[in-house]
This record gives sequence, C-alpha cells and structure tokens, in this order.
Amino acid sequence: MEGGLKPMDAEQLREYGHKMVDFIADYYKNIENFPVLSQVQPGYLRKLLPETAPAHSETLQDVLEDIDEQDANACNLDPDAFDPDVETKILPGVTHWQSPDYFAYFPSNSSVAGFLGEMLSAGINMVGFSWITSPAATELEMIVLDWLAKVLKLPDEFLSTGQGGGVIQGTASEAVLVVILAARDKVLRRFGKDAISKLVVYCSDQTHSSLQKACQIGGIYPENFRVLKADPSRDYALSPDTLSEAVSHDMATGLIPFFFCATIGTTSSTAVDPLLELGKIAKVKPGESNSIWFHVDAAYAGSACICPEYRGYMNGVEEADSFNMNAHKWFLTNFDCSALWVKDRSALIQSLSTNPEYLKNKASQENLVVDYKDWQIPLGRRFRSLKLWMVLRLYGLEKLQAYIRNHIELAKLFEELVAQDKRFEIVTPRKFSLVCFRLLPPPSNEDYANKLNHDLLDSVNSTGKLFISHTLLSDRYILRFAIGAPLTEARHIVGAWKVLQDEAATLLSKC
Ligand SMILES: Cc1ncc(COP(=O)(O)O)c(C=O)c1O
Repeated sequence: MEGGLKPMDAEQLREYGHKMVDFIADYYKNIENFPVLSQVQPGYLRKLLPETAPAHSETLQDVLEDIDEQDANACNLDPDAFDPDVETKILPGVTHWQSPDYFAYFPSNSSVAGFLGEMLSAGINMVGFSWITSPAATELEMIVLDWLAKVLKLPDEFLSTGQGGGVIQGTASEAVLVVILAARDKVLRRFGKDAISKLVVYCSDQTHSSLQKACQIGGIYPENFRVLKADPSRDYALSPDTLSEAVSHDMATGLIPFFFCATIGTTSSTAVDPLLELGKIAKVKPGESNSIWFHVDAAYAGSACICPEYRGYMNGVEEADSFNMNAHKWFLTNFDCSALWVKDRSALIQSLSTNPEYLKNKASQENLVVDYKDWQIPLGRRFRSLKLWMVLRLYGLEKLQAYIRNHIELAKLFEELVAQDKRFEIVTPRKFSLVCFRLLPPPSNEDYANKLNHDLLDSVNSTGKLFISHTLLSDRYILRFAIGAPLTEARHIVGAWKVLQDEAATLLSKC
C-alpha cells in the first residue's frame, strides 16, 4: 500500500474482498483434498513464521500464499508475484470442520447464507450492547429469535412479546452460565446471600461439562454439584426417580435445590432426558418454598426439532425456565450463534445489568427497549442475528427440514453398514445423526476392547481420509460417527466405512 494507511478504502475492499471470496470458494472446491484432521506436530507454526510482526506492509498475495499456496495461485491474484518456494503455513494446521468427511464431535455448520450474514456483520461492524447503539441489531435479534422459537414450537412464554425472550449467546456454555447466575441470584434474593453454601445443582453424568464450568464460575460449592447416574437401560437418559430421590434427600438435610439441567441430545450418545417428568419434579409443590430452575440444553439436537417427527423430543419444554440450541452446530449458521430463550427475562437482567453513567440514554432509562448487554457476560456484542436471519430467509423452513432429514438418512445408512458387519456392534440406538459403535474384540478378550477401539480411532484419523471422535459409555470406549457437515453425501459415508473396515481388518489381523 503506497502512502498513508487507508484502512477502510471502499475500492480496496471491493478488490480484496472479491479475491478473498474467490480464495474461500476455491477452498471449498478443494476441501476434500485436505487431510480432515490436521496432521501437524505441536509447535509446527512457530518454526514457519517470523519472530516479530512486519515493520513494513506486505501484500494480500503474500498472506494468502502463507495460508494456502495452491489456492492463492489458483485465484490468480498476481501471477508474477507467485513464488513457488513459499511454503504453505496455515492450512496444514487446519482441521477441516466443513469437510464432507468430518464426522467428529458434533458438526459446526457453515453455509453461503451464514457466511454472507457474517460478512455483512463484519462489514457493518457495530457494537450493539444497548438498543441505542444500533436499534436494528437489537430488534432484529428479538424478531429472529421469536421466529425460531415459533419454528421450534416453544411455548409463547419464551417469546419477546411477553415476559420472556430470546438472546444470541456465543456458545451453549455462555448460555448455561447466564441462566445459572440468574437462577442463583433469584434464590439468594429469597434466602439471603449466605445461603449460597446450601444451593444444589443437578444434572446427569451425560450432561455437557459446560454446566460444571458454569457452576465453578457461579460460586456453587463443588460438593453441591450433583452428577446423577444416567440409566443405561434408558439409553443413558436420566430417570425421574433418580432426580426425585436426590432432591428429596437434599431437602431433608436442609440444602436448597435450585437448578436442574436436562439435555435433548447428549454429547456422548444423543440421549434424550424425559423433560416432562423431570420438569414436574422441578416445579414448586405445596409446602415447599422454592421451585428449581429447569434448563434444557438442546445444543445439538435442537436443530432436528424443527421437523415435526422429532419435535416430540421437546415435549415437556413447557415446564422449562430456559431452553438453548446452537444454530452454529447443525442449523447452517456459521459459528458463533447459540440461541437462548428464557421465560422470565427480568431474572437475567437482575443478575447481569449495570447502569454506568456513560451508557445512560433516554430509551434505556425509560424502559422502552431491550438492552442485550444485560442478558450476557460481555458488554460488546456483534450483529449475529444477521446470519441467522439470512439462513432462515435464504433457505426457508422446508429446505432446512430437508437438510436435517438428509443427514439423518445418511446416519441410517451408516448404521445399516455397521449392523451388517458382524465384527462391529451398534452401542446405543441412533436417534438423530450420531451413530455410536465399536469394533468387537476377539472372543474371550473383552478387556482388550477399549484398546482395540482406541487404536482403530487413531489409525483411521491418521489416514486423513476422515475424522471421527470417541466417548466412554459404561466404561466402554465407543466410536462416535456424527454426520452433519453441509457437503456430506452418501458416497462419503460409504468411503468412510470402507476406511474403517480396512483399518479394523489390519488391527484384527494383529490380535
Ligand atoms: C449437548 C451439548 N451442550 C453444550 C455443548 C457446548 O457447546 P458450546 O461449544 O457452544 O459451548 C455441547 C458441545 O458440543 C453439547 O454437545
């Protein structure tokens, strides 16, 4: 760049923006050629990059070549500047979550609509903490979350038109943290601050670890964090009796049960807790002094509930105080976009609001508006509703439902392939698009099973042809095959299964 710095020159943005979009489009065209799981060693990048930041400006071409030499060249940015000796530095260290052969953890979708929404948000780059700082950002978020609440058939109490409403958090971890703070402060207002040592939180041993972290941050005494054993005979859902007994026991010893988290689609195996029965236990009963805040974590499987045939898993959500789903997992909305709804927004606001002089304004003072700064931990917030709005508008409910159903069909296909091979077993019945399975050990060698499956995971992932992850269920090492990347087709499932079979055959031949 000649002369002074012009950091937001419209014509340069146009030129570089087009080149970057070309670069990214080529990345997606070539995505199947990369090892899905990055194969670099720890510390690889420090060896490749200079020790200090450049004193003088470099070109976009220089940077793109560092990201991916071939892709930069293919974009034909500036062929004369292309140096074949430049070593690609960034993409080898990327694990390709958007690869059609990505089957690990849970998906983290991108889409053209989500990408464009992110682009627009980056372009406008406002910081919408209070309504006044960009009224459209707050109002669009309220409207889009009302739309999504209606798509999910959440009870009306979760809509912003009543006492509740939705808010976009960065992650499900932030969502559960803010509701635990709201629930904690609500109960402490009643029992006094010293009662914090008596507050008890309940979850199952299948609940995501983000709840434990929220309790740590929220000052819940570790000995009052009850991890109840999920029932293997109920496919690892929590039995209402288990919750009921734990709550009764704690109340009898003078403790105060105040928060319970149920899950639709647990991380390990997509178990679904029975919301209706569990929710009834959380409700205040005659003779008891407080009800338990009931949070539903549907971070992954919430997306499936937009289809009428899966909405049944949400039955009982009417008992909940808060509900969360990650649009950035399986709903085509680029990371980050975690939708949280509460029935009583005043509980959140009472916990999280501050009112410093420098942020005071007429609309807020007169209580005419929502100020989302009071619904979250940070002050600053991005215009994230744009990408969710784009996804809902550019795709529409019917196509979004078809998208989910297609992944579930692909999961059925994988499940059938596994079931046909007697060397493997399906470990828990599939509910959504995750298949939990394992390679069976040779007869009379059950102790060896965990090592065998651990080795299979390692060998499969080190081929670079696919990426899967694992979990433990009843102390058994299980392989997780989670379908949900936007580009995955049946051929990828069949190809991945072939790799799994081949690697398994090699391992079994050594037993
Ligand atoms: C059921 C469930 N809850 C919560 C989370 C945490 O999600 P986040 O990364 O958005 O905090 C996950 C992550 O996979 C999850 O599976």
